[in-house]
Amino acid sequence: MKRPRHILEAQQFEVGLIEQLFRRAEWMSRQVKAASWEQTTSILPGRMMYSLFYEPSTRTRMSFETAAKRLGMQVLGSEDAGTYSSRSKGESDDDSFQVMSSYRPDVIVVRHDREGIRSLASKISSPVINAGDGAGQHPTQALLDLFTIQTKCGRLENLKIVMIGDMKNGRTVRSLAYLLGKYTNNQITFVAPYELKMSGDILDYLTKHKLRYIETDNLAAAIKDADVIYATRIQAERGMDQPTYDRVAGHFRVTPAELNRAPQQAILMHPLPRVGTGTIQKVKLANGEVVSVKLLNELDPACDSNPRAAYFDQAYNGLPVRMALLEWVLAD
Ligand code: NCD
Repeated sequence: MKRPRHILEAQQFEVGLIEQLFRRAEWMSRQVKAASWEQTTSILPGRMMYSLFYEPSTRTRMSFETAAKRLGMQVLGSEDAGTYSSRSKGESDDDSFQVMSSYRPDVIVVRHDREGIRSLASKISSPVINAGDGAGQHPTQALLDLFTIQTKCGRLENLKIVMIGDMKNGRTVRSLAYLLGKYTNNQITFVAPYELKMSGDILDYLTKHKLRYIETDNLAAAIKDADVIYATRIQAERGMDQPTYDRVAGHFRVTPAELNRAPQQAILMHPLPRVGTGTIQKVKLANGEVVSVKLLNELDPACDSNPRAAYFDQAYNGLPVRMALLEWVLAD
C-alpha cells in the first residue's frame, strides 16, 4: 500500500518542494481573490477531510475547512474534540484514531493539546496533518509564514529575522526556525524573557545548518536593522500563574514607537491571536489548580495602521497555502 503523505513537522519540507508548493499557493490565491471557485472545486471533488481540534483555533481550523471545501472536498469533524469525543469517557487517542482511520477519510487534520502527533500518525493508514501539537510544532503555519515573507520581502535568504516573546512554548516560532534554517545567510535574533528562551533542540538544529542566531533582551537594538519582526503571544495556557505571567509578559511589547525604529521596508508579523489587555484567561497549572490570569497585549493595535504591519495578510495566506498543501497531500 502507498505510504500516506503526512505533514508532521516543518523540517520534512525541502527547498524544492517548498518552491513547488508556493507556486501552487500563488495560483490558489489568484483564484481566491477572483472568487473563481469553479476552477478550484474540481481539484479534489468528493474527497473527505476530518478536522479534529483538541485545542481552540480560529484561523487554522477555518482556513483548513474553507480550503477543503473550496477544493470540492467534504469536511467532518469537531471544533472541541476533547469534549465531544470518547476521550471524555476515557478512550485513548490511539484507539480513537485507529477507528476514525478505518472510515477511510482522505486526510485527518489534527490540532492536539500534547506533542506527539508523529506517534499517532505512525499507527494509522490515513494521511495526518499537524495543525499544532502542544508546544511542539505548527508546520502549516510555518509554511504560510514563509510564504508571507517571500511575498513581502521578495526573498528567503539574507534575512535578519527578529522573533519576540514566548520562544519556549510557541510552536509557530519553533517550526519557522526549522524552515529558515534551510536557506542561506539568514540570521535569527531571539528576544525572549529568560524563562521563555528558545529551547536547545532548535538552537542545535540552527547551528548544524550554519544559521546564525543571537539571544538578547535588547529589543530596540534587535529591531534596528531587521527585515522581519515576528511577535508572539505569551502562551499563558501552558501553565502560568499571575506572578509568572506578569514577570514575563510586560517585558517585550511591540508598540508604534518601538516599530518605528525598524527600517521602512521591514515587515511586522504575528501568527495571531494577539491578546487584548485586561482579557482574563483560565489557566491550568502543573499541579492541576485552575487560576485566572489577566493578560497584557504584546502587539499594540495602534501598529495596525503602520505600513510594516503584515499580520492580517499573513493570516489570509493561510487559505491559499493550505489549499496547496491539501492538494499535495492528496496527490495520487
Ligand atoms: C498559533 C498557535 O495556535 O500556535 N495560532 C495560530 O495557529 N495562528 C499561535 C498562538 O496561539 O499563539
